[in-house]
Amino acid sequence: MILVVGGRSKIGSALISRLLEQGEQVRALARSGEAGFPAEVQVTAGDLANPESLANAMKHVDRVFLLCGPRPDEVALNRAAIDAASEARVERLVRSSILGSDPDSPATFVRDHGACDAYLRAANIPYAILRPNLFMQNILENTIPSIGKDGVFYANAGQARISMVDTRDVGAVAAALLTEPDHAGAEVDLTGPEALAYRDVAAKLSQRLGRSVTYAEAADDDVRTALAGYGMSSWLVDSLVELFQDYRRSGEDGYAAQITDSIQRLTGSAPRTLDQLLGEARGQ
Ligand SMILES: NC(=O)c1ccc[n+]([C@@H]2O[C@H](COP(=O)([O-])OP(=O)(O)OC[C@H]3O[C@@H](n4cnc5c(N)ncnc54)[C@H](OP(=O)(O)O)[C@@H]3O)[C@@H](O)[C@H]2O)c1
Repeated sequence: MILVVGGRSKIGSALISRLLEQGEQVRALARSGEAGFPAEVQVTAGDLANPESLANAMKHVDRVFLLCGPRPDEVALNRAAIDAASEARVERLVRSSILGSDPDSPATFVRDHGACDAYLRAANIPYAILRPNLFMQNILENTIPSIGKDGVFYANAGQARISMVDTRDVGAVAAALLTEPDHAGAEVDLTGPEALAYRDVAAKLSQRLGRSVTYAEAADDDVRTALAGYGMSSWLVDSLVELFQDYRRSGEDGYAAQITDSIQRLTGSAPRTLDQLLGEARGQ
């Protein structure tokens, strides 16, 4: 039995589909309800903030996938799950982190994931870590809806190039790390097949949407104001701004532009391109 924590996230739901296709038994921890999970999934009510619910969810489980959405208490919640998995003596824990994870990073997301990864490495439990780059799906969910009538969208990414990755490919790698032997201690950087600056994204959007789309560099404070206007907490707003500051530091050819072969190597399929994702989204 595999316990999936974070099964409603994009990576988690792609992972669950894969595991079910492979005939695995899947249990999902969810804070509320069963909506969004396939019928074959055994959904168990629980919360990373509630150790008793974690111990209960880990019963008769041999492998665990751990993903927690971005939150101020993310490090404590991940530690609690790692402790519970260690206590339950599970055979393997696969954690979803972020590219470049580093406990000393000035960017909160990257730093918190770095702390969680370090805690997992030191825990008494066989593990694997996925480090995906920025999700391509953000282009569909955030960038396209933000395009103004004038065809302009804004981000504080400067001219950084980012090898954005499709979350379905990340889920497929997670399935491989959970179900295949010989991955103990694996730490894999997951990227898409091309490093794209937002000017490149704009060119692809222009082609797919059939109208002129332009990227404009925004100042951090303008992005803060815009994100706060969507009702995001100040912690989330600051963390997002910091992440894009990190991409600016990475620049045209830094860590965020690296392209790895991990998806091809671990799934046997080439990583999806942004063109593919945009085409699928538009039924093209
Ligand atoms: N967005 C990106 O481009 C990007 C890039 C690289 C890495 N990442 C990382 O990927 C991860 C996923 O982010 P996301 O935005 O895709 O996540 P998301 O859609 O917000 O999903 C978060 C998941 O975490 C679960 N969760 C949150 N708090 C929980 C708690 N207290 N107890 C149990 N479950 C809890 C949620 O469970 P419920 O179903 O109960 O709500 C949900 O399934 C984050 O760690 C993020 O830092 C993101």
